[in-house]
Amino acid sequence: MVRRIHHVGIVVERVDEAYGFYRDVLGLPLVREAEVPDQGVRAALLGAGDSEIELLEPLGADTPVGRFLARRGEGLHHLCFETADVAGALTELEHRGVALIDRAPRRGLAGEIGFLHPSACAGVLVELATPLENHGEEELPAPLRLKRLVIGAEDVSATAATFRSLFALSEVAMNGGPRTMLTVGRGALLVVPTAEAGGEAGMVALSLVAEDFAALGAALRRAGTPRLDGTGELTVEPAGSHGVHLHISRYMFP
Ligand code: CO
Repeated sequence: MVRRIHHVGIVVERVDEAYGFYRDVLGLPLVREAEVPDQGVRAALLGAGDSEIELLEPLGADTPVGRFLARRGEGLHHLCFETADVAGALTELEHRGVALIDRAPRRGLAGEIGFLHPSACAGVLVELATPLENHGEEELPAPLRLKRLVIGAEDVSATAATFRSLFALSEVAMNGGPRTMLTVGRGALLVVPTAEAGGEAGMVALSLVAEDFAALGAALRRAGTPRLDGTGELTVEPAGSHGVHLHISRYMFP
């Protein structure tokens, strides 16, 4: 039913400021930017390999994203899967009794889009999108690609089962332990117990892979981005990335 993670949405105070990190320091290419009055946002999509990162700035305090910002601050907001037929997918989900925000598609930055209700997906807000023909399918060269989204869950197997059943994702065997990996296109969702996610449920972190890890580390140092450096992996602290735990690892040939 779904082909790939189309994008991960991040709420920010101001898109122009967030460009300073996501576009200028990380080097992610801007795909498209627009006001979407229907959703009360100014939004921008930045390329990250097979997926994109969507920055969302509320157009006012009295909008869903404005209220999210006031309540939670900047950070991960929603997950969007690409599907070939968003209208058909929403109809099928409605017939299955799945709670939806949109029963019919509307126009968004990613194309024709519709949102499921977060109660349908273990508290995670999920968007489905079918890109428009004239948006093109080509992937912009990006120095980082989105590898996986980490989701904290009180009950890992129940949350994984919900995502598998709604979106027909495949589960990858992991060597024991309480985590579950679900693949979608070249990306993945990693479901972990809340105890491993700072006690938080829902979307808790993003993992990206850097084509040139040394160059990226140097760019972060130059910018003074707060981070924890490891060997072959670093973590940008939420204070440096507009509220997102960002794990960045060295590219490894499979
Ligand atoms: Co979106």
